[in-house]
Amino acid sequence: MPAMEIKPGIHWVGAMDWDRRLFDELIPLPDGTTYNSYLVRGNDKIALIDTVDPMKEKTLLDNLHETGVEKIDYLITHHAEQDHSGTIPRILELYPMVKVVCTPKCKDQIKILLHVSDDRIITVADGETLDLGGRTLEFIHAQWVHWPETMLTYLREDKILFSCDFLGSHLTQSDLYATDEAKVLRSAKRYYAEIMMPFRSHIVKHLERLAKYDIQMVCPSHGPIYPKPSFIIDAYKDWTSEKPKKEVVLAYVSMHGSTQMMADRLVDALMKRGIPVKPFNLSRTDIGELAMDLVDASTIVIGTPTVLGGAHPLAVYAAYLANALRPKARFVSIIGSYGWGGKTVEQLAGMIGNLKVEVIEPVLIKGMPTEEDYSKIDALADAIAKKHADAGIE
Ligand code: FEO
Repeated sequence: MPAMEIKPGIHWVGAMDWDRRLFDELIPLPDGTTYNSYLVRGNDKIALIDTVDPMKEKTLLDNLHETGVEKIDYLITHHAEQDHSGTIPRILELYPMVKVVCTPKCKDQIKILLHVSDDRIITVADGETLDLGGRTLEFIHAQWVHWPETMLTYLREDKILFSCDFLGSHLTQSDLYATDEAKVLRSAKRYYAEIMMPFRSHIVKHLERLAKYDIQMVCPSHGPIYPKPSFIIDAYKDWTSEKPKKEVVLAYVSMHGSTQMMADRLVDALMKRGIPVKPFNLSRTDIGELAMDLVDASTIVIGTPTVLGGAHPLAVYAAYLANALRPKARFVSIIGSYGWGGKTVEQLAGMIGNLKVEVIEPVLIKGMPTEEDYSKIDALADAIAKKHADAGIE
């Protein structure tokens, strides 16, 4: 995408990465991603807000050239992760007068990650401002969004929040703006689940702090720009709220069909009781989809056969992931089948220490389920329904 003027004197000069399918060699990107970079012209000074992933260096340089910019005074660096900072060294080389502007923690990071020298960096305090001449940048330190060095920038005169990774989405589309809100919301929720959810308590505080700002546009570092920010800010308030929704996530794997039969029965039993349930067969699941459903779920059930004395590795991975993402679920249970023994329950229960959950009595059966075993699954569905009702989860 070429450079695009989003307001007089403010250009989007970033890069679209339509083909990228994996981030951090971990997170699936079904819709690619963008690395948003913005050029802000004041009457006296010019600031570039963030750079792009080094793979897209040429696109950023071409876009800067297209705007006709001849000098850059400040390179506002919100975040040291390389998808935004990776092209800093090239910008410093091409624009000898430019100074990187960042938090003290970010300075440490870009020195060790990119070998940027001290004399090219200016650190700013929380709330400090920078006058570009008719345009004022206000810096907002925002630790743990999702690294400890992060900051956001509020452009006072234009009422624009440059929000770094916060409120972003891994979504590439030719429309620079979040015009199709339903489509963007889905990508933004996935992004929140994968990247921001582990830092929910910090995100809540940042949302509270931003409430005092008159924000008329949000320009994130990934995904479309929000010309009407309320929908994404309201969505974040919902996702970060303490109370989960009446939903069950069933993450399971089956080797020879017994655990599958138990999973199917649990889905039916929950549906009969009016409890929304989302089963994820872990041998086919996109972990981003699983993470998204963990955002609101009140109960997580892990289903696994016993293999080599414990849970199936895919079930172990699901438990590890849920523990790392720290969703707000209140209840956890385990179902599964074994042949001759094992430590499945102890193993999985021991992996979820980060979750503030009550464990509902697991259902582990021997071999293929019998009618008596199915009754135990029905009883588990009853127990989940009762726990939800007692906790006021509707
Ligand atoms: Fe998009 Fe945390 O970098």
